[in-house]
Amino acid sequence: MTDGRDFILKGNICYSKDVKSLETVEQGFLVCRDGKSAGVFEEIPEQYKDYPVKDCGNMMIIPGLVDLHIHAPQFAFRGLGMDLELLDWLNTNTFPEEAKYKDLEYAKKAYEIFAEAMKKSGTTRACIFGTIHNQATELLMDLMEETGIKSMVGKVNMDRNSPDYLREQDAQQSEQDTLQWLERTSAKYKNVKPILTPRFIPSCTDDLMERLGRLRKERELPVQSHLSENQGEIQWVKELCPDSQSYSDAYDKFGLLGEAGETIMAHCVYLTEEEMELIKARGTYIAHCPNSNTNLSSGVAPIRTFLEKGLNVGLGSDVAGGSGESIFRAMADSIQTSKLRWRLQDDSLKPLTVEEAFYLGTAGGGSFFGKVGSFEEGYEFDALILDDSSLRHPQPLTLRERLERFIYLSDDRHITGKYAEGVKVF
Ligand code: GUN
Ligand code: FE
Repeated sequence: MTDGRDFILKGNICYSKDVKSLETVEQGFLVCRDGKSAGVFEEIPEQYKDYPVKDCGNMMIIPGLVDLHIHAPQFAFRGLGMDLELLDWLNTNTFPEEAKYKDLEYAKKAYEIFAEAMKKSGTTRACIFGTIHNQATELLMDLMEETGIKSMVGKVNMDRNSPDYLREQDAQQSEQDTLQWLERTSAKYKNVKPILTPRFIPSCTDDLMERLGRLRKERELPVQSHLSENQGEIQWVKELCPDSQSYSDAYDKFGLLGEAGETIMAHCVYLTEEEMELIKARGTYIAHCPNSNTNLSSGVAPIRTFLEKGLNVGLGSDVAGGSGESIFRAMADSIQTSKLRWRLQDDSLKPLTVEEAFYLGTAGGGSFFGKVGSFEEGYEFDALILDDSSLRHPQPLTLRERLERFIYLSDDRHITGKYAEGVKVF
């Protein structure tokens, strides 16, 4: 045995191989070999006979969940101030709260709460926004490292259109701070990596975007931002970028949509056909955040269209636009909002199915991190052990039915084990 990352979990195993179907194996064996899945089996294969077996009884075993979009500093006001649309919400609730992270003592208090919640959640991979503050963002990275979850964390860039108290002096200063933050954090962690994080077009001057685009290319860094979330925002971007063909093009001009899947764009509610083509050509990931899009009355993104076109899509909680960090909740919300879209807006796009929502929250977003989000051989071993025994029912249920109920009915208390890359988180 190489290290503690060779073992077998026995239980009721569910995972996706593709967006349409769910694989279920009752009382199967999931083999972890050196932190990677060696596959799911009905019987233990000969070569793994000496691996220790953890018997999970009647519990379910599924891949760890992937949150492609969450704001750590906004966790403090989750569930508050939900009665505004995006731009007013940013000015009224978000910017004043994020400004507090200049104070490291406050940041420590708040980020400890965030990191603990992430640890207990079903999430094993997350892409996280910090604030513009270098020190607080490094502190957030320190705390995320300790959770054992694999994450990408971004120091936010913003040098225009926000109050003095939450705006960087200019593009040069913003770039300099970013370089210094990269210097300190790039090689510091096992579980955490930095990700470039221009907040969105309205927050960043062309000068800053150009610098970040260059940095992305030179250092081969991933990028996360927001795109096409709200009608008022889209109109504003049109005014700010009269020379761009579209909101997506305003990023692409600076190479910030990536070239082959290096960028995540949250929301994408109102993309045009041309923008979808561009997003597809760049391999850009779309973080679908249905709970946020509901709370902020943003709209419902046409996920069925994205899937049909073969775009990369995963789920995001988008706390605090989204009111909680649960990706199970994001799965249910993605189904429910797609039904309302179908009923009220466009009956040509059929609602999402449980299989599709489960795929989005696991393998769909997971591929941003590499071979993540499935139990097929060679995938990194991210797994959850789910105890649904307290979600009582009188009738027999199939494994697929148990998973569906879990998506709608569970909370963190029903997650009894979690592994990231073969290492036990709890
Ligand atoms: N667009 C720019 N900043 C934000 C943010 O913090 N949350 C959401 N939902 N959208 C944004
Ligand atoms: Fe967001």
